[in-house]
Amino acid sequence: MTVKNLKIKNFRNYEYLDIDFSENINILYGHNAQGKTNILEALHIASAGKSHRTNNYADLIKKGESSFELNLTTRLKDRDNLIKFRYVKNKGKHIEINGVKRDKLSDILGHFNMIMFSPETLEVIKGSPAVRRKFLDILLCQTNRNYLYYLQQYNSLIKNKSAALKKGKDEQKYLDIIPIWNEKISFYGGRIAAIRMNAVNILDRYMKTEMGKITAGSETSSIVYKTFCDFDVNSDEEYFESQLKKKLDKGIDNELNISQCLYGIHRDDFEVFLNDLNSRYYCSQGQQRTLALSLIIAELHYIEDIKGEKPVLLLDDVMSELDNLRQDYLIQGLYNVQTIITTTDSLALESIKNRDIKRFYVEKGRVFDKS
Ligand SMILES: Nc1ncnc2c1ncn2[C@@H]1O[C@H](COP(=O)(O)OP(=O)(O)OP(=O)(O)O)[C@@H](O)[C@H]1O
Ligand SMILES: [Mg+2]
Repeated sequence: MTVKNLKIKNFRNYEYLDIDFSENINILYGHNAQGKTNILEALHIASAGKSHRTNNYADLIKKGESSFELNLTTRLKDRDNLIKFRYVKNKGKHIEINGVKRDKLSDILGHFNMIMFSPETLEVIKGSPAVRRKFLDILLCQTNRNYLYYLQQYNSLIKNKSAALKKGKDEQKYLDIIPIWNEKISFYGGRIAAIRMNAVNILDRYMKTEMGKITAGSETSSIVYKTFCDFDVNSDEEYFESQLKKKLDKGIDNELNISQCLYGIHRDDFEVFLNDLNSRYYCSQGQQRTLALSLIIAELHYIEDIKGEKPVLLLDDVMSELDNLRQDYLIQGLYNVQTIITTTDSLALESIKNRDIKRFYVEKGRVFDKS
């Protein structure tokens, strides 16, 4: 899939922007704080319904204005699609896809698939479990029709149950409802665990191949899903559901004692190993970048397998963090992948010399086509 055109009104430091992208490589270059990442952020919102930098939509409105609007034209299997996203202060969001109003945020997912690789992606390797859960959630919301629904149901059950655990010590009615919620938590949690386990296994396979290529076979990686119970390749959603149910039944006193939901997929993680050592503790910075890079390319293959189309790759500020060899590897590995790169220099790489490239110079919320 590709992004053809993006129009922006009163978003961040842009009053108005109209930009036609190349189907191949696009380079947005310019000094710091000029609006490069803002463009990627707009694309992120058109894909995921929200920003990767803030949960507060009002932050996104240009200072002094009262609404912003994004119009994105994508091309998917020879068809153009128009995604419109508007946010009005004190009124909320308005989403249209091909002229049809959509009420739910989830309706926007899956129309425009992208992968964002930014310095924060390194946090997936070295950061807390919450970062890795978010990474999986973004990927799975784009690729699995039921995932977001399961997750929303699960999260609201956990929220209610947490409140009930706090009050349950004093009031019987809260104690009575917890077992009913636990049934549902097990149902949704079991499904989510099975989907996550599968995804991590597939990513693991692709990542091993990519690591082999980038390091010329000298280093190996593996990623391993961690959840509330042990499992093997044959474990399915019923298995996870029954395991979670058991944990919850047995652990109710523990949960009541500390008034917290102790068991379930809200505590999931996946571990990343380099040469059989946990990368969080043993990796050099360069090795962490290499792992992040191969994870991103693994993600690209994963989405392509499911969607039958390559997602658009957004590379925010990562080129300067990679050495020349890895920059070249990244670009060469990305044939037939539309890529939008932000950088502070204009990138004179060998590997992009003969490619269809568009260069855009970004200055103070304006974009100049320099190709
Ligand atoms: N709501 C807003 N209204 C107006 N300007 C904003 C708003 N939000 C952010 N900005 C401005 O946008 C600019 C930052 O844009 P962006 O993050 O895209 O920079 P960048 O070009 O990616 O810089 P860097 O190279 O440092 O990453 C800053 O000048 C900031 O003040
Ligand atoms: Mg930036």
